[in-house]
Amino acid sequence: MPALGLALVQPLEPDWQATLDRVAKRRAWPTSRDVVRLAAAVAHLSGAYNDPARARAAMRDAGAARLGFAFARDVPKAGAAVRELVAMRQLKIDATRPLRILDLGAGLGAASWGVVRALEAAGMRGAVEAEWVDADPEALELAMEVVREREGRGTVRLSVRTTQASVDRLEPRGHFDLVLASHLLSELDVGLPQDTRLQRHAALLASLLRQRVGEAGSLVLIEPALRDRTRHLHRVRDALATLADVAIFAPCLHRRRCPALDRETDWCHEDLPIDVPSWLAPVARAAGLRRQGLTFSYLVLRRDNRSIGDGLVVPAGSARLRVVSDAMPTKGKREAFVCGELDHAGARVAGRVRLMRLDRDANERNASWDEVRRGDLLAIRPAPDFECPRIGPTFEVTAAVAPDGEE
Ligand SMILES: C[S@@+](CC[C@H](N)C(=O)[O-])C[C@H]1O[C@@H](n2cnc3c(N)ncnc32)[C@H](O)[C@@H]1O
Repeated sequence: MPALGLALVQPLEPDWQATLDRVAKRRAWPTSRDVVRLAAAVAHLSGAYNDPARARAAMRDAGAARLGFAFARDVPKAGAAVRELVAMRQLKIDATRPLRILDLGAGLGAASWGVVRALEAAGMRGAVEAEWVDADPEALELAMEVVREREGRGTVRLSVRTTQASVDRLEPRGHFDLVLASHLLSELDVGLPQDTRLQRHAALLASLLRQRVGEAGSLVLIEPALRDRTRHLHRVRDALATLADVAIFAPCLHRRRCPALDRETDWCHEDLPIDVPSWLAPVARAAGLRRQGLTFSYLVLRRDNRSIGDGLVVPAGSARLRVVSDAMPTKGKREAFVCGELDHAGARVAGRVRLMRLDRDANERNASWDEVRRGDLLAIRPAPDFECPRIGPTFEVTAAVAPDGEE
């Protein structure tokens, strides 16, 4: 059962290796073929990002690893974060004008590239005009080198304007169809007390949504799948969910308090079956980062009151649920955590439960349960019971699909 829009997300193609290596060579940085030196730089960068007290790496110190590895790893994350918007036709290129993207903390532009690639994969043609904002001028300079290297390729034309600025001091400049903040929140206000930081980030995002996002546009946040970063994103989401003019499009199927916050050990993140490009596998291995799968957390906000759950097509009477853990097959049963609509004494409630199907209850109707993966959107009929969450032999399990049948 493929996750909705997953086909839109692919690792960078082999011709990107030459692009990135050319740019690296000009600066005498290790290329992808210099595995040992690049892997050492990548391990160093990974240490900086994983340390919550630093959580950042300037281009001057970490340029080689950001260009040679992080860029390729991060491009598909943005594609994955917008895959559902694209599959539901809530993000598309209008034939009459370019799509306008504001990419905040753009770095090398990985998030914009991820979106452009998802639009291309959906068969769209046309132009994207992006504004890339970053506090680090060296990052923007390098980003433009990559843009120039890629000119004339692809079916979606990307044109970029850069602005060196801090995201909290942006001059007003109209509305955008898409505002991206990818791996930015982690770097903002590091060291402030948790509650102060939460309030500042919720206020920043609410104002971005109101002042920068067009009426049918989206604000997309991407964060590392690390527990502390993702739980911060959940808290920000909860704060924003109290505002009547903020719609939570994805990943959540409800706007009630995030149930992952109930237990310190929980966090809701993606882990999609997408590996780094094959040319980077030796570098990942040498850097001690060898792990297949694209991990990140994300949040898609809108102004038009749309949520992914409203648009999904499901058989009448089904509950809409998202799989929020890996599947857990054990002796005699198969379980996974799901979050979304549940039945509570005959009424629909929002929540997160560990849903179980005994092997002896498996049959054709619920066979899709055998294939579920983290991130999948399901329709289950009847709705599982909140108190006793079990898929019985009469239950139907199917993939929730977009209106045009896209899975
Ligand atoms: C981890 S990089 C992410 C780059 C890119 N968005 C991605 O996802 O691959 C974070 C970027 O945010 C920038 N940044 C951090 N704080 C910023 C601020 N207050 N204003 C603008 N940019 C900022 C950094 O310079 C860096 O390039």
